[in-house]
Amino acid sequence: MCSILGYRGSKDAASLLVNGLKLMEYRGYDSVGIATLHDDKIDIAKGVGRVVEVSKNLSMESMQGTIGVGHTRWATHGGVTDSNAHPHTSCDGKVAVVHNGIIENYKELKDELIAAGHVFKSQTDSEVIAHLFEGAKGDARQAMLSVCSRLRGSYAFVAVFKDGTIAGARWEEPLIVGIADSEYFLSSDVLGFIKFTDKAVFLENGDIVIIDGSKDLQLYDVEGKPVSRAVSPIAWELGAADKGIYAHHTLKEINEQGKTITGALAANHQKLGEFAGIISGAKHVYLTGSGTSSHAAMVGKQLFSKYAKIKSDVIISSEFQYALDMIDSGSVLIAISQSGESADVLQSVKNARQRGAKILSIVNVSTSSLARASDLFLDIGCGPEIGVAATKSFTAQLAVLYSIAGQLSSSENKEIFQGCDIAPAIDKALALYPAVARVAEVLSTVNDIYLLGRFLHYPIALEGALKLKELVYVHAEGIAAGELKHGPLALMDKGTLVILINPTDNTFMDTLSNAHEMKARGATIVGVSDQNNELYDYWIQLPKVQDVFYPLVEAIPLQILAYCMAVGKKVDPDYPRNLAKSVTVK
Ligand code: F6R
Repeated sequence: MCSILGYRGSKDAASLLVNGLKLMEYRGYDSVGIATLHDDKIDIAKGVGRVVEVSKNLSMESMQGTIGVGHTRWATHGGVTDSNAHPHTSCDGKVAVVHNGIIENYKELKDELIAAGHVFKSQTDSEVIAHLFEGAKGDARQAMLSVCSRLRGSYAFVAVFKDGTIAGARWEEPLIVGIADSEYFLSSDVLGFIKFTDKAVFLENGDIVIIDGSKDLQLYDVEGKPVSRAVSPIAWELGAADKGIYAHHTLKEINEQGKTITGALAANHQKLGEFAGIISGAKHVYLTGSGTSSHAAMVGKQLFSKYAKIKSDVIISSEFQYALDMIDSGSVLIAISQSGESADVLQSVKNARQRGAKILSIVNVSTSSLARASDLFLDIGCGPEIGVAATKSFTAQLAVLYSIAGQLSSSENKEIFQGCDIAPAIDKALALYPAVARVAEVLSTVNDIYLLGRFLHYPIALEGALKLKELVYVHAEGIAAGELKHGPLALMDKGTLVILINPTDNTFMDTLSNAHEMKARGATIVGVSDQNNELYDYWIQLPKVQDVFYPLVEAIPLQILAYCMAVGKKVDPDYPRNLAKSVTVK
């Protein structure tokens, strides 16, 4: 959840670290810090806040040195304070460490270190790593092995030593080495170094990397044996993580959907047949994902069932470990994840793999841990998503699920998916911005919002509610419209705010009946539909599309609504409080 970055080269480390951290801030953004080596001394600047403001306030970019480490934090252990910000140092000041993950045995290590005379300056689990180095004997490799052998939990850390060495290690958290001309980067994400090089080594679990002045990159496995790892080329386009003319990344990413949806619908043709073949040969098909990706999975399940007659179950990743009894070698797990790094998703995959299941995945980062842990993956290819709330990745996930459903379908159903030009409808959905912005203004004082839909529209109701929760900080609830009479109707009262997702497909009449029931109790209804109705106090006019594609066009105005409401509330939509883009802790 945090981002870490290390650099050893000939450029000014400080500005390179600050700029790299700005691009990786989506991983965690409650505090920031860097350490650089200068005049045989490790200088540290760190504090609470976003990279832009803290780096300016502390004049970080004027720190000298060509070797250093940096960090942005998403707090797990210890509050959001200056002293809990990374880097952390040993008592002798010979090493500074940045860490991403959770050291589960930190309490016992800390007690042991305190008993040995160490003085701790923070409440974090991470600080133990710096102190462990102080007692470690031998060269950098031996010291790294000795420290790593003491740690339980998950980590990717980078340490800068007073002698000019930087070293990193990973266990269940990503760490990537960027290699340029006689300069090296150690980073949580390729965004940390993509401006400087497109050559990267993706470290394996347990790997240790050491970079010092004397030799080239040194790589060791978990037992300390030298290993070699392939150098992979990275797509330069990943560097396109700039918000351009837009006020926010989220708005830019919403607007990119004209391109990303059609791109995802058309892509992956080569692997699609094989992917679909594995699904149709399975005894049981499961889909998993977290948050937004689990909503995509729910749409996928309905598509597979209706159009390909394939039964599947959706198990959200955080619950997957409790459902393992059903998983066996006849099972196929389709894991969906934008980042490919969500800990819950990776754990589900690991558990399913142990029970003999085949692993398929749908990811946005083809170099991610999930892609590498899969038998086969499809890339949704929508480019970097920096806004913490998933937008374009959600609709691109849906687009890939449509392609799979189309591939699995009988020839009669295949026609529904093939040859459909969705682009004009996506453009019309994006052009709803001014109309949706007006609705956002009307809703600006509302604190409870209910979103209702049936069948394919139920996951969209859940997704719309999630966007409102995370971007606007209001209570929002997605409800399967048919469930209204089984309880939620009791909530309907004068002025209760309801967003009704009701395009004119096979769910239309039933959902309209629900609107009558709610209207009779005084609810205010925002209809999201291609057809207006007297029951709607406000109407968001969806473009007409083939029934099956309505989820794509109805997700967009709901994203715009959450974005506009966040901006109206003066909340930064790119970086909602308490959240991080990739949730790499369980
Ligand atoms: C919501 C959101 C999260 C993610 C979830 C899974 O807008 O972004 O709910 O969808 O954390 O992340 P990935 O898809 O990267 O596994």
